[in-house]
Amino acid sequence: MTDTYLDLVRTGPGRALARRLGLPAPVPLRRHRRGDPLVPGPVLVLGGGPDADRVAGTLLGWDLDVRRHPEDVTRFGAVLLVLTDLERPAELTGPALELGGVLRSLAPGGRVVTVSRPAPGIGAGAASATPAGARNVPPAVAAARQAVVGFLRSVGHELRGGATANGVLLAEGVDAGAPSAQGVLRFLLSGRSAFVSGQFLTVDDAAGALPADWEAPLRGRVAAVTGAARGIGAQIARTLAGAGARVVVVDVPAAGDALAALANELHAVALQLDVTDEHAGERLLGAARERLGRLDVVVHNAGITRDRLLANMDRTRWAPVLAVNLESQLRMNEQLLAGQGLGEAPRIVSLASTSGVAGNRGQSNYAASKAGIIGMVAATAPLVAARGGTINAVAPGFIETEMTARIPAARREVARRLNSLQQGGLPEDVAQAVLFLASDAAGGINGQTLRVCGQNLVGA
Ligand code: NAI
Repeated sequence: MTDTYLDLVRTGPGRALARRLGLPAPVPLRRHRRGDPLVPGPVLVLGGGPDADRVAGTLLGWDLDVRRHPEDVTRFGAVLLVLTDLERPAELTGPALELGGVLRSLAPGGRVVTVSRPAPGIGAGAASATPAGARNVPPAVAAARQAVVGFLRSVGHELRGGATANGVLLAEGVDAGAPSAQGVLRFLLSGRSAFVSGQFLTVDDAAGALPADWEAPLRGRVAAVTGAARGIGAQIARTLAGAGARVVVVDVPAAGDALAALANELHAVALQLDVTDEHAGERLLGAARERLGRLDVVVHNAGITRDRLLANMDRTRWAPVLAVNLESQLRMNEQLLAGQGLGEAPRIVSLASTSGVAGNRGQSNYAASKAGIIGMVAATAPLVAARGGTINAVAPGFIETEMTARIPAARREVARRLNSLQQGGLPEDVAQAVLFLASDAAGGINGQTLRVCGQNLVGA
């Protein structure tokens, strides 16, 4: 689906007209392309203490041009605020205003990233449950930490030029130099997080390894993607294969032709399987092990909508949505985790939706199923952690797909502008978030839901 308006405002006259009329002026996002620099310019690290030094050390290790003071650099690729030692809200004043002073120097596609600690009952959206240890912090510390969340999200709404603002929350005991913290930081700085803004990821485990090759973080792994015959699922399969994984692509028999074509393209294994099959988890595991010797990553992407206002809803529209989108995943996870069939450090990634966070008119069934995913990953996390692995969800907002192309034009145009980046995301944006969560770089993230929604104005 093309965004004609985005194409129009890319031209000089179109952009000038949009400005004059006060209309949105979206810009093409900085997306990851092999060989591109990690960030589009020098990186400014603000804030003091050992964690700021650790962050600067990490960035230097990635050969970035790191500055500790806002000298006369005209274009920063990123600004990092290290706020892990905040004890009172007033201590945010200095770093906040320092950031304000350099925001106009942020390059197009630039990044603002805060590194701080979580507060109890953190209001960081669906992102995380309160991490262990965060419950007992004194009120002033909790207030200061939560202030960072509101602050950063407001910055995200103010940025222009395709820049984004996100936060890393380090649980007690995790320092900013831990591999698991580095993995998150790198994702947020990179073009892989192009459509992620206003989000917080909590790193609650210091352990973990970083990928040996950042371009091929899944080399040697086997990944399965359900609902892969088209749309977001097909793109996830392509992205995981491009990252070195051998892939099993799964879809219903009715989508067999498209599935076979994709399997051919990716040298993948095609598996015709309805995820609502009572033995779907066992069949998937069996097929992956038989054909590719193992199974490390499972992406639950298959999903359907049957929209109706609740007053007009009947069982034939309600039940299948819950069955395909949620109950199938619960059953498959149980079967996948029952024996020792999965590889070491298994990764499960589920597709939720911002509808499951904020709700959506006409989607009570779908929103129930997608909110259920958020609960499911949070509760399954300890079970997967016991196996050395993780389970997380990605909640896409408005993504340019066949599904959203079917929305009536006027509603579609409004829906795709209702986020800080003023445009819809692409399937590739969702796929990059899935890849991140499936890789070693996200080893410290478990039970969380990462929104890929351009900081949708609905549902924070
Ligand atoms: P799509 O409708 O284009 O593709 C879904 C795929 O799942 C199809 O190939 C379909 O055959 C397959 N599928 C359906 N039922 C199945 C079953 N019982 N067993 C196996 N495969 C089955 O959907 P799209 O847009 O690519 O969405 C993918 C996922 O992302 C879904 O879970 C959806 O809810 C979620 N999502 C999509 C958003 C968007 O803007 N397109 C926004 C938020 C979430």
